[in-house]
Parts: sequence; structure tokens; C-alpha cells
Amino acid sequence: MPDFYNNIIENNRKWVESNLANDPDFFNRLKDTQSPPLLWIGCSDSRVPANEIIGAQPGEVFVHRNIANMVIHTDMNMLSVLDYSVNVLKVKHIIVCGHYGCGGVKAAMGKAPVGIIDNWIRHIKDSYRFRKNEIESITDEKEKFDRFVEWNIKQQVLNLAVTSIVQQAWSKGQTLAIHGWVYGLDTGLIKDLDVSFSSHNDIRNNSVYKLDFE
Ligand code: CO
Repeated sequence: MPDFYNNIIENNRKWVESNLANDPDFFNRLKDTQSPPLLWIGCSDSRVPANEIIGAQPGEVFVHRNIANMVIHTDMNMLSVLDYSVNVLKVKHIIVCGHYGCGGVKAAMGKAPVGIIDNWIRHIKDSYRFRKNEIESITDEKEKFDRFVEWNIKQQVLNLAVTSIVQQAWSKGQTLAIHGWVYGLDTGLIKDLDVSFSSHNDIRNNSVYKLDFE
């Protein structure tokens, strides 16, 4: 009986066939090494698949995803991915990509306890606290949610910038740019949030983060 689980196994066979039909060397080229130019830090949401939405092929994107695309200073999982990407793979770009309608961000704006995830969401509530005045000055609920999704992404870009890993890469003069993007579930489109940085000075001179350094 065909069901989702059987379909995905069959889909895999078809995917292999079609790749090999286009390029008999497709998997052979990928088997020994990778040198992706990009690390993607995104939300776990099933509707925001990293490779698909940017048309990237296997071998082009190193991926880390968690609920609400958070960059938490003590998260060993994230730090390990970041360290490997920057210091071994030498990625040139890191994108923190969040999305409108993010359930994690929505939960952080409410008071209802959800469960163990409340402890993770506490970090999103910290982002809220940093931007409380701006967010609460917005009266329209949809607008408020959208702006907070964007603020949270910007906050995670800043968190990324101040990790020892990114700081050391910039101090060594390594080519590394970090960016913040937001994805529209209803449009499929990416919006660049104009928080791209590739040096210590870029961050210091940016007005978005002025508050955090004062
Ligand atoms: Co989300």
C-alpha cells in the first residue's frame, strides 16, 4: 500500500536515477570531499528547506537548523557546526534565515507554557526584551509579529558576530561575511534584512546594533 514512507524511499531511487542521467559522475564527485561556500542557520520549520529555496545542489550548503534559527552562545551543537564550517571548510558566507509566521517566535510573544521547549523559547524572549520598546510601539498584531521575527533574526546575526569563532576569523583577516534573511512562507521569497557584515568595523559602525554596544 503506497504511503508517505514508501513514497520517500521510491523518490530517493528516482532522484538518484535522474541525477545520474544528467551527470554519471554526480555522486562520485561528492564522495570524498566537500567545500561548501555557505553555512545556513535556519529554522527547523518544514516549510523552509535550505537547499530548495535557494536552488543549491548537494555540496553547496552546510546546514544547521533549530527552532527559530537561534544562535545561543553556549549551544555546543551550533558552535561545533560553526567551528567546523569556518575553520575547516572555510565557508565564505553564513546566512541566518528566519521566516514570517515562525511558531517559535509566536510562542515567545505569548505567556502560555508549552513544555520543555519553554526553556529554548526563553532565549527568544530575551530578543524581545532587547527590543521591547520598538516592538510594543506597534499596535497592529500582524505587523508586530512580522517586525519581531525580523528583530529576532537581527539579534541572532549579532550573536553570531560576537562568537569567538567569527571574531577570531575576522581578526585573522579571513574572508567571512554574515547575513540575515527572512523568508515569506506565503510568497517563497527571501528578503535580505541588510545586516551583512564582514569585519569588526562593519559591526561597530552599524546603527542596527548601536543599542547593543552602548
Ligand atoms: Co520557525
